[in-house]
Amino acid sequence: MKRFITALMVSGCVLVFAATLFADMPGPDPAALWHHITVESPYQQWQFWPDHQGMQPGRAPHGPRHKVYVNDRAINSKSPPVQYGSIAVKENYSKKNVLKAITVMYKIDGYNPDANDWFWAKYTPQGKADKYGKPKGCVGCHGTRAKNDFILVHEFK
Ligand code: HEC
Repeated sequence: MKRFITALMVSGCVLVFAATLFADMPGPDPAALWHHITVESPYQQWQFWPDHQGMQPGRAPHGPRHKVYVNDRAINSKSPPVQYGSIAVKENYSKKNVLKAITVMYKIDGYNPDANDWFWAKYTPQGKADKYGKPKGCVGCHGTRAKNDFILVHEFK
């Protein structure tokens, strides 16, 4: 019985430890991801890729102007694939600099192994998820650069 209780306590500790390690990262859920990037770790305080700073001209289907913010895990990834937990948040603007949509890619271990485990989401500026998960459009178009881990605004050397 004593052994059983010890084993129970040890596995409990391991669970709590694992939970604290990953507690800061949301699952594949658009509302949890939005909460993470706006409340827990506001993306506007993140960095830009060194080769893609501030407002930049963009291509369809995204807006004509954009900013792409990346979190620490992404910026600290020196070669593709980037680390799990990496997030890129793209603000899509009109020509007149009106924020139209926010598109996000978030790398989750085991989420979609066929397409580099990215969770995709497209939000209104107010945070309503229009599309999320593994939309064929996002995966297909970004997948043309699978070797660069589906990332299009930053070239890994
Ligand atoms: C037809 C091609 C195409 C489709 C479809 C597409 N994208 Fe993109 N995406 C791009 C291009 C090109 C860029 C580079 C920036 C630009 O030109 O706007 C980009 C950049 C991004 C970035 C910045 C990170 C990076 O460097 O890749 C995110 C985040 C993103 N897209 C999310 C999405 C999401 C979410 C969807 C689906 C709802 C989506 N994209 C659908 C072409 C596409």
